Amino acid sequence: MPSAIRTAVVPAAGQGTRMLPATKAVPKELLPILEQPALQFIVDEAVGAGVDHVVIVTSRTKPAIEAYFERNEWVESILDKQGRGGLADRLRRYGSDVRVSFVYQDEPLGLGHAVACAQPAVGDEPFFVLLPDELMGDSSLLSSLGSVVEATGVPAIALKRMERHELFRYGVVDPVGDARSVAGADVVSFASVVEKPSGEAPSDLVIIGRYALLPDVFDDLAAIGPASTGEIQLSDALSVQASRRPLNGVMSNVSRRDIGNPVGWLQAVVEAGLEHAEYGPAFKAWLGQR
Ligand code: UTP
Repeated sequence: MPSAIRTAVVPAAGQGTRMLPATKAVPKELLPILEQPALQFIVDEAVGAGVDHVVIVTSRTKPAIEAYFERNEWVESILDKQGRGGLADRLRRYGSDVRVSFVYQDEPLGLGHAVACAQPAVGDEPFFVLLPDELMGDSSLLSSLGSVVEATGVPAIALKRMERHELFRYGVVDPVGDARSVAGADVVSFASVVEKPSGEAPSDLVIIGRYALLPDVFDDLAAIGPASTGEIQLSDALSVQASRRPLNGVMSNVSRRDIGNPVGWLQAVVEAGLEHAEYGPAFKAWLGQR
């Protein structure tokens, strides 16, 4: 069920250093999973959760991102002729049912800074944040986050249990109280976030790249300073918010692929190949022979 949140922010101004040298010329967010760029999946996920305004935080060094969202009737007609009318229709939505706005982050000063750049386009409304280097199987997680915000009036952040040896890569939450069901979702409250813990982590629950936030997060992002890395961290602003009242963590049960690194990207491509209605069987047979 789509929630009442209509705006999604997609931070896409990072440098994609783990995918160099491809990202010299092609933004990480446009690297293809079969024939569709990652950003197409992200926008489809947001639209599936009821979003009609997508705000992309980009960099002037990545003009291809804007080019992708320009309407191009020739491309749409070719897709129609190839029998891919569903995809053509999804591209036709840009500029009509789905508004796509661009805001610029001049320097990659961190995820929190990127989200803060979106404030003028978001206004005084609740909004989703979707990190485009994580692909989710469907829109259900985002919809649940929206429903939990509606039911509680408190921000909701997607969580996943992770193996202990992987925690150092993530923001790890400090849970409070028992897990409970809210609007059909499994919710765990948390009182703070430890970003990339170097020592003992507070739990094995990590933040994955989907958030449903309230506009007061912009005040906290403006008030916090840079972390020791020099970046403005979204997790620091969430910790400030959680110190006022616990935030809601929503346990994810959708499939997730981290495509921001070469192996994760390859896994996503192979999986999409295996699942593809047309190419899947032949690809699976080829892979089996290998
Ligand atoms: P990442 O840290 O995974 O992306 O940020 P990155 O910095 O581009 O990649 P590496 O680590 O150098 O390989 C997650 C998302 O947040 C965006 C990125 O574009 C990415 O989609 N981001 C990150 C920004 O928009 N601005 C920033 O300052 C940092």
